Amino acid sequence: MSSADNKIKELENLFLSDYDLLKQNKIDFESVYNKYLGRKKGLLNTLYPLLSDLDSDKKSEFGKRINNFKNKIILSFDKYKPCNDISEKEVDVDLTLPESYTSLGSIHPITIIIDEIKSIFSKIGFSSVYGSEIDSEYYNFEALNIPKHHPARDMQDTFYINDNILLRTHTSGSQIHFMKKNKPPIRILSPGRVYRNEDISVRSYCLFHQIEGLYVDQNVSFSELKGTLEYFAKEFFGSNVKTRFRPSYFPFTEPSAEMDVYWGLNNESDYRITKGTGWLEILGCGMVDPEVFKSVDYNSEKINGFAFGLGIERIAMLKYGIDDIRLLYEGDYKFLRQFKK
Ligand code: PHE
Repeated sequence: MSSADNKIKELENLFLSDYDLLKQNKIDFESVYNKYLGRKKGLLNTLYPLLSDLDSDKKSEFGKRINNFKNKIILSFDKYKPCNDISEKEVDVDLTLPESYTSLGSIHPITIIIDEIKSIFSKIGFSSVYGSEIDSEYYNFEALNIPKHHPARDMQDTFYINDNILLRTHTSGSQIHFMKKNKPPIRILSPGRVYRNEDISVRSYCLFHQIEGLYVDQNVSFSELKGTLEYFAKEFFGSNVKTRFRPSYFPFTEPSAEMDVYWGLNNESDYRITKGTGWLEILGCGMVDPEVFKSVDYNSEKINGFAFGLGIERIAMLKYGIDDIRLLYEGDYKFLRQFKK
C-alpha cells in the first residue's frame, strides 16, 4: 500500500469518528467543517500534494478517490448545516396560516372625487359619457361659438398637434359630440382630463381634470341651474357650505357665471390659494348660448338648457386641504397612501 493510500484511509477513519461526534452534538459544525474543508488548513488539502508522487495511472485513480471522499464529506455535512437560508426556513412555516399580503395601492384623490361627483349627479338623473382628449378645433372652439381670432381663444393657451388637431382645453367639446348624436332631453356629465399651456404653480398645472355637465330640455331656467349646483355643493361639502355666484363670460353660455366655495382665510396658505379673498372658484356655468344649439341643429326657439364645467383639482384641494396642486401629479407614495380607504 502506498503512503497516499494510507493517508487517505487515515483521514477517512478520522472523518467517520468526527462525524459521529457531530451527530451526537459533541462537536460544533463549523470547527469540524473547517477541519476538513477549510480553504487553507483543511485536511482534504493535504491529499492533493501526494498526487505528484504517483505514476500516471495511479494518479487518476487516486484523484477520483479524493473527489469521492470530498463529496462524501460535503453530503454528510449538508444534513447538519445550520439553516440560515430562507428557503430552508420556510419549510418550518405553517402553511395553513393565511398568507401575508403585500400592500395594495390606493385610489387617486382625483378619481375619488370624480366618482363621488358622478354618484351625486346620478341621483338627479345625470349619466356619464366620455370624450377624447385629442380633439379638433371645431369641437373644442368653433362649435362652441369661439371662432378663429376670438379673444376667448387666448384665455386657454392651447397645445396644438397640427393646424386643426389639439389637446382639448376643456370638456365642453363633449357637449357638441353628444348633442350631435342625441336629441333632448339631455342630462349628462362628461369627466376627463384637459390640457392648457399654463405656468406651473401652486394653483395651476399644464393638465387638469374637469367634469362637464349639460342639461337640455324645454323651459329650463337659470334658477334650476343654481339649484342644481347648490344641491351638488351641499351633498359634496356638507350642508354648511358657503357658495356664491359671480357673473362671468363664456362664449358658449349666456348669461354666464362662476361659482365659488368659501375656503377660509386662517393662515398664509389660505391667502395664497384664494388670492387673499377666502373664496375658491370651482366651476363655470351658464345657459347654453343659442349659437351652440345652431351648430348641433337644435331649434333654440323650442328648447334651452344649462351647462357647467367643474374643476376637479380645485375641489380635491378644498375637500382634502391640499395646498399645492402639484402634489396631485407627482405620484408620491407618502402623499397617495393617505387616501387609502
Ligand atoms: N369650459 C369652461 C372652462 O373650461 C367652463 C364652463 C363649462 C363654463 C360649461 C360654462 C359652461 O372654463
